[in-house]
Formats: sequence, C-alpha cells, structure tokens
Amino acid sequence: MSFLKFFDSNSKSLVSVDIHSHLIPSIDDGAKDMERSIELILALKDMGYKKLITTPHVSDMFPNSTKTILDGYANLKLELKKRDIDIEIEVAAEYYADDTFEELLKNRDILTFGKEKYLLFELSYFTLPSDLDSLIHEIKMSGYTPILAHPERYVYFHNDISQYHHIKSLGVLFQINFISLENYYSLEVTNVVKKLIVEGLVDFIGSDIHHRRYIKFLKKSLNSSLYKKIFKKNTILNDSLL
Ligand SMILES: [Fe+2]
Repeated sequence: MSFLKFFDSNSKSLVSVDIHSHLIPSIDDGAKDMERSIELILALKDMGYKKLITTPHVSDMFPNSTKTILDGYANLKLELKKRDIDIEIEVAAEYYADDTFEELLKNRDILTFGKEKYLLFELSYFTLPSDLDSLIHEIKMSGYTPILAHPERYVYFHNDISQYHHIKSLGVLFQINFISLENYYSLEVTNVVKKLIVEGLVDFIGSDIHHRRYIKFLKKSLNSSLYKKIFKKNTILNDSLL
C-alpha cells in the first residue's frame, strides 16, 4: 500500500492552484531528492490541485540563483513527463528580505508569477526589518506585486494586528499557510491566522509543503471548518492564476 493511501481522499482543496511550495529536489530545505519530490506532487494532485507554482528559497542559507532554480525546474518537469504525471507546474521563488534580495531587485533578477508579476517574499521570523516600508516601496517601484509569505508566522506582529493593516495599505498581498489552522507551528500562530481570516486580510492560501510530514496536516486543515471560512471572509486569488 502506498504512503498516500493511509490518508482519506475526501480532503480536497477548494482552490486549484498552489502558489507556495518547496518541490524542486535538493536545492533548499524542501524535497531531498526526486522520489520525495514526486511523492509530494502526487499528494497535492490527490488533494485536487491542478497547478503548482513552486517557490524554492533564495536566502543566505539557500543561496539559489535564477539559474539553479530554472535548472532544477527543468529536471523536475522532465521527470514528470517521463512518469506521465499530469499536473501543471510553474516556478518562481521565495525571497528572504536581505541585502542579497535588494541587489537582485536592483538587477531585476527576480522570478515572479502571473501577469501581475507576483513576487513572494518572507521576513525574519523574530526581528522586524528596520526599513520594511521602503523595501515594499522598492519592490513596487520595480514593477512587482509583493506577496508576503505566511504573515501569521512573524512573532513581532502578533500583538499588534494594526501592523498587518499598515502593511496591506502599502499594497502588499498576504499568503497564509493553511496548515497554520491546524496548529502546525504553534497555538499563537493559529490564533493569529484566525484573526487574519476574520478580518478579511487574506489574499492567497499556500501549502508551503517541504516534506511528507506536511501532508497529514494539509489534509487535516482542508477538513477544518475554518478552512471553509477563509472563502467566506476573504477574496482568495489563487485560481486567478489558472
Ligand atoms: Fe516557504
């Protein structure tokens, strides 16, 4: 019996496009090799996803370039074709906001998705960048539409929901990790993601899948009543990318 058969297949996604994942083998802390990558892709397909926009890390710890990402992507596409796995896959990146990112931004050496040139970026979990407003301004002036990855995970915003409203007012879209609903990270993160949902601050939902441990949580989250609530309170843009 395959690993996937252990999970009930009633856990279906209400969107067809995932915009955040780590599926390219061995270039970040996501899928370690091609077999694991295929396993994750099949799990997402089983949940009903039709298109995956995968987003390897670009950071100090994972110093990927546009070339390493595109090379890895080409190999993965080839393998999917070889195995006759029918799912659309695109690639962008998840940029960590640091000096290297600002350099890439200056050179317009950025992988984006959608006609809006969506740029997925993340922040330090523990330290608020001193110049966040100007970084956002720079991203926008460079012609990109910023999407902040998992806003619920930044501890320095947790006690002040007005910070989220402020960032949104600067033109940043929010992508929550919907496994945050099922307490994957911490109770505090779960509470914050609920607030973001209730306040209608969510624009995209993402799996942010790294390894097989996520699969169980993703399926659990898809079954939670809160998951459905996201769509009642927010305009979710994932499927505009189909
Ligand atoms: Fe990620």
